[in-house]
Amino acid sequence: MSLTRSYPADHAASLQDPEEFWDAQARQLAWFQPPPRPVLSQDSTTGFYHWFRGGQLNTCWLCLDYHVENSRADQVALIYDSPVTHTVRRYTYRELLDLTSRFAGGLRQLGVERGDRVIIYMPNMPEAVVAMLACARLGAVHSVVFGGFAPHELAVRIDDAQPRVIICASAGLEFDKVIPYKPLVEAALQRAVHQPAAVVVLQRAFCPAALSAAHDADYQTLLQAAPVAAVPLESIDPLYILYTSGTTGKPKGVVRDNGGHAVALKYSMAAIYGVQPGDTFWAASDIGWAVGHSYCVYGPLLHGCTTVLFEGKPVRTPDAGTFWRVVQDHQVRVLFTAPTAIRAIKKEDAAGALARQYNLRSLRHLFVAGERCDPATYEWAGRTLGVPVVDHWWQTESGWPMLATLVGYPDMPAPKAGSAGFPVPGYDVRILDEAGQSVPRGITGLVAVRLPLPPGCLPTLWQDDARFRSSYLETFPGYYFSGDGGYHDADGYLYIMGRVDDVINVAGHRLSTGEMEELLAAHPAVAECAVLGIACALRGQVPIGLVVLKDGQTPDEPQLEQELVQLIRGQIGALACFRQAAVVARLPKTRSGKILRKTLRQLADGEPFTVPSTIDDPLILDEIRQVLERRAIGQAFDNPPASR
Ligand code: COA
Ligand code: AMP
Repeated sequence: MSLTRSYPADHAASLQDPEEFWDAQARQLAWFQPPPRPVLSQDSTTGFYHWFRGGQLNTCWLCLDYHVENSRADQVALIYDSPVTHTVRRYTYRELLDLTSRFAGGLRQLGVERGDRVIIYMPNMPEAVVAMLACARLGAVHSVVFGGFAPHELAVRIDDAQPRVIICASAGLEFDKVIPYKPLVEAALQRAVHQPAAVVVLQRAFCPAALSAAHDADYQTLLQAAPVAAVPLESIDPLYILYTSGTTGKPKGVVRDNGGHAVALKYSMAAIYGVQPGDTFWAASDIGWAVGHSYCVYGPLLHGCTTVLFEGKPVRTPDAGTFWRVVQDHQVRVLFTAPTAIRAIKKEDAAGALARQYNLRSLRHLFVAGERCDPATYEWAGRTLGVPVVDHWWQTESGWPMLATLVGYPDMPAPKAGSAGFPVPGYDVRILDEAGQSVPRGITGLVAVRLPLPPGCLPTLWQDDARFRSSYLETFPGYYFSGDGGYHDADGYLYIMGRVDDVINVAGHRLSTGEMEELLAAHPAVAECAVLGIACALRGQVPIGLVVLKDGQTPDEPQLEQELVQLIRGQIGALACFRQAAVVARLPKTRSGKILRKTLRQLADGEPFTVPSTIDDPLILDEIRQVLERRAIGQAFDNPPASR
């Protein structure tokens, strides 16, 4: 059974007989050893689900060797378009295979073998993709850390993943600002307990790093190694770990297996995105995020597409027409980006004049995800580009979309502004109340997915089965709990309204307010604090801090704010966009002492709210309203840039 071309039929079949449905999808791939039945099993000790146990494959082989052996050797596999370095480079499948198999050989010389972890801390560059694929070739488990994270965050990931090797670039570019990465790696290694055997550095001409320490190795030198063949791996062997923000300072290490991941992504390329092998697909994301893993690298390559890897921003590289230039130059068929990127473009080119300067005839669909897409942005994008805009919902944990308008099915209802669409085959998405009962249509509840999850979703958290269980499986027994709130409308469309926990989305980047609170609370002047994600017209949400001082502390407030801002920039990174903190006399709490964060956020956003009956003193809310008004917090298009 491949696609029936009927969404309702496939969705129903995927839930009624998941084994049959996914076994059929698995047969679209060239396994070294096809998975035996049953393709879905439960671990006898943990009870967690596994897909395709007993099957053998290699994800790198499927992404590269398979296409070289099946008449795509000279097709372009990857286009690197970097307006920040004024570079465009194309790599055929044959060339990408050659580089990857050599780099895998170089990694093996450093002792990297199946099961070893490798951290990759690089900007969007082909060499980063080669590093990911080379790990996959060897069966080493890569963990890409977004280049915007500060040394503290990198160190936490080093200690958790315990990599044998770290691969980094000497530097990245944020617009024209040079960010030297190597010193950040060194700073992280000074904090980390675990030390890797080697740090591989890709030198960039605009900012080479001094290679002095005994553990440094040169990326280009490793590329001289003899090529190595792909190692046959078990389907359930981990392909990568991707850390994502939870509600505390310790990020969650989302594990992705090889077999389920390959099957799910291959299916998604045709069913969700409607692309065929040979088409050009562009996910304008960073390889440090789940979208980057799935749709800059693995999905398009598994499907035999040409993927575009973009090193730049939607604006000022050099202007707000840069996305449209890339679509034109590379004949992009599907563009996938975050609503924030569209809002940034719209701000600079509200009339869409730049879009009209380019030939966008190749483009069939614009997909958006990562945060809620507000209807105004949705409508503007559709009008400006003249193609359907498809909002779809997913998480690092799922690794591929859970809700979408699947454009590969001709009988799919048209997308609606504000909605993330319908459940993707494999996902039984429910809206529940706190007691786990389904809520009626139109009522907002908690978004959960009935178990088992389809292939591709996380089997567990890296070396933390207990946290996997407590974070996702215990809220509603028999379900995966997403942490999002949402509702169905009368026509069955689903709407995702945002997180119901201490996680926020800043420009499509997922961050923990709980972690920020832990950091602010460590400041010597701070007695207690609350970090809230308030609405931002550009980035969707941005964090602000409200701090109560310790008795006897009388710091200069602007100075204290700068210290708190620098604390978050230094520990998490500038990407958090934590730029405002205000001193308040008290924080509103329930009588049992719980800070009323939701009420504070509603207050800051000017949303109507009922004063909770459990609040210890309602007057506190008026005091805080006055502070926010005096500081004009939340009233600009974007929060003010931090002083560096
Ligand atoms: N390395 C180092 N620093 C980084 C970084 C990186 N890889 N990425 C971001 N930063 C820094 C930026 O330099 C900026 O620092 P500043 O406060 O000193 O100016 C800060 O983090 C915030 O970055 P960003 O949110 O990218 O803001 P911006 O002003 O540079 O760009 C947008 C604004 C809207 C253009 C940008 O946020 C954007 O492109 N958003 C879309 C994001 C996206 O595609 N997300 C999808 C994930 S699936
Ligand atoms: P991440 O794990 O970084 O991909 O972030 C996942 C979170 O982003 C989800 O839990 C949602 O809160 C949010 N998100 C992703 N896509 C959407 C969407 N289409 N609509 C609303 N929120 C989204």
